[in-house]
Amino acid sequence: MPLDTGFPIPGRAVVGQPIDRRDGRLKVTGRARYAAEFDIDNLAHAVLVQSTIASGEIAGFDLAAAQAVPGILAILTPENAPRLPEQPSRQSETSGPPVAIPLLQDRLVYYNGQHIAVVVADTLERAQQAAALVRVEYREAEAQIRMEDALGAAYPPKRFRNGARPPDSRRGDPEAALAMAPVRIDATYTTPVEHHNPMEPHATIALWEGEGEDHRLTVYSATQGISNTREALARLFGLKPEQVRAICPFVGGGFGCKGNTWPHVTLAAMVAGVVNRPVKLVLAREQMFSSNGYRPRTIQRLRLGADAQGRLLALSHDGLTSMSHPAPLPTYMRAPGEASGSFALESAMDELAVALKLDPIELRLRNYAETDPHEDKPFSSKALKQCYAAGVEAFGWGRRPPEPRAMRDGPVLIGWGMASATYPMNRSEAGARIVFDSDGTVAVQSGTQDLGTGTYTVMAQIAADALKMPLHRVRFELGDSEFPKAPVSGGSQSAASVGSAVLAAVDSAKQRLFEMALAAERSPVKGASPGELEFADGSVRLRSAPHRQIGIPALLARNRLERLAVEAGAKPGDEKKRFSMHSFGAQFAEVRVDPELGEIRVSRFVGAYAAGRILNVKTARSQAIGGITMGIGMALMEATRIDPNVGRVVNPNVSEYLMPVHADIPDLATIFVEEQDRMINPAGVKGLGELPIVGAAAAVANAVYHATGIRVRDLPILAEKMLVV
Ligand code: MOS
Repeated sequence: MPLDTGFPIPGRAVVGQPIDRRDGRLKVTGRARYAAEFDIDNLAHAVLVQSTIASGEIAGFDLAAAQAVPGILAILTPENAPRLPEQPSRQSETSGPPVAIPLLQDRLVYYNGQHIAVVVADTLERAQQAAALVRVEYREAEAQIRMEDALGAAYPPKRFRNGARPPDSRRGDPEAALAMAPVRIDATYTTPVEHHNPMEPHATIALWEGEGEDHRLTVYSATQGISNTREALARLFGLKPEQVRAICPFVGGGFGCKGNTWPHVTLAAMVAGVVNRPVKLVLAREQMFSSNGYRPRTIQRLRLGADAQGRLLALSHDGLTSMSHPAPLPTYMRAPGEASGSFALESAMDELAVALKLDPIELRLRNYAETDPHEDKPFSSKALKQCYAAGVEAFGWGRRPPEPRAMRDGPVLIGWGMASATYPMNRSEAGARIVFDSDGTVAVQSGTQDLGTGTYTVMAQIAADALKMPLHRVRFELGDSEFPKAPVSGGSQSAASVGSAVLAAVDSAKQRLFEMALAAERSPVKGASPGELEFADGSVRLRSAPHRQIGIPALLARNRLERLAVEAGAKPGDEKKRFSMHSFGAQFAEVRVDPELGEIRVSRFVGAYAAGRILNVKTARSQAIGGITMGIGMALMEATRIDPNVGRVVNPNVSEYLMPVHADIPDLATIFVEEQDRMINPAGVKGLGELPIVGAAAAVANAVYHATGIRVRDLPILAEKMLVV
């Protein structure tokens, strides 16, 4: 299907078509309004002050110089900040070490870069100047900074979130199976701390209105979850959720770091209350490395045992991951767990293929699971084999010489590597509302978010098809917590969750319209039963005699309504108990390695994905491009460097925290193997936000091995790691 039409092809379902992103024009012309860009009267500006030690206590502040800056409205410190009605818990979810939730409620310092004061002024520049003049005296304590020093204290998480799998699982007797396996791999892989670095930094504008029962807090906040934001703020300030409104029509990327309501959001609301003015707080890029989580470090040991034919007899995967002791709290980052874990697993599989002298695809096919052996359930659908086949064909994998260092272009070594990818189908309860207007247009509303993934576009496509209306008459509205509640845009769940809610709302809306049409005065469908009616092209009509119809404007007028709003929700049933539900993919990378400089370039990349129904080939392909780009960054560039003495991030900027730029990314070929899966959810989608990063780093690492014979088990694969003699 061509990708350049952008407009729906008439007479066909719009779901699946490569429709242009509806917010694309607004974004490229700068008219899309992000959280920091709302034009609010009388806006004051807040700037955070952060600790410069890693552990200890604040002995005191000297605020004289800061307060002397003109235009200063307030300086909040633990000494004068309002006490929150609900003290945030200092125990982490895992009942492990204390977690730093820096809301100026006490003088403790848990990590370098922790928020310890907020300066508010009438202009940003004055707030920045005063923040720089805040003097802090500390009583410093010894900090535990290096993960290596804390390995003896590692523990398995005791509690975990609802729905998450237990941290430890075991089947059979892997030790015994390993001991008898004729071919074995035992290797340790490590991945560094990484930061998300979306283009749009975190930003919150907070404003309070009214008194008593009418006291209301509104935040314009960059977030992946407006409903979470509303609920977190309500809890912390002792308000009812209805008293808090979170607005976020556009998000400039998140990748997980905007999934939580981080302390700066609460602090913005707190200072807005103190100065009794709307306050804007935007994190500086540097603060994006200390305020909103990160992908934790991992140390993973993989042990594989196979028979001579390459059938796996044992697989043991032990992982250690860094926690907040006392560093800032880690969080989810695109495919949290899967991205780091698959680097180790898919590298080890490649090592096993080398040991067995088997093609990596052949090894995977010999171990292909037709049912989920771990959960002992059938897959609702699994087209991974078709992904392998499509990727092999598109990449030309059949021409791959088995030995490393076998392909060259002059002095440059060329290598091909592959990896499998998988990600669970996630879905949560969501709501949606259909609003029919007297002008014949339809608004579909849900309190979801569009991280740039295409939610605005694909939800309008789903609604247009379900309503049998042309796409241009359907608009999708999101990003306001007053809309029906939807889950956080994380875990690749928005399309499945919100898409199913939109379908449910359309169903309810049609039933409502049928009732109204049957009851209307002088109704052209009078006497029919609801089953004989259909809704198409904006009219309720008799299926057997479509000329007997009544349009929405007439229907509204006869009921003396300006508009009609119908709301419905959808939630998962027990299907996950009966089926194992996952998306799958096969990824293939070509790298070119300069043996003298060690420079590694990814020159080709093919990804084939089976992720249920593809709602929009264009936005889906963008997801794949983004995920692979991030995976290439993970493989070759990204690492947050932390000073082992003072616990401070030393590369908190986009010039020293390296990420791929356009010149680093080749043409990425994306193939979708469509699946018709009726089990997963009414929308038929499995989600694509995270799948494409899952195997990408391993595919690149395996290609680097094939090019050079050098197996790098420690990410990122920097040039110097290629210069071993
Ligand atoms: Mo994503 S890491 O589920 O926001």
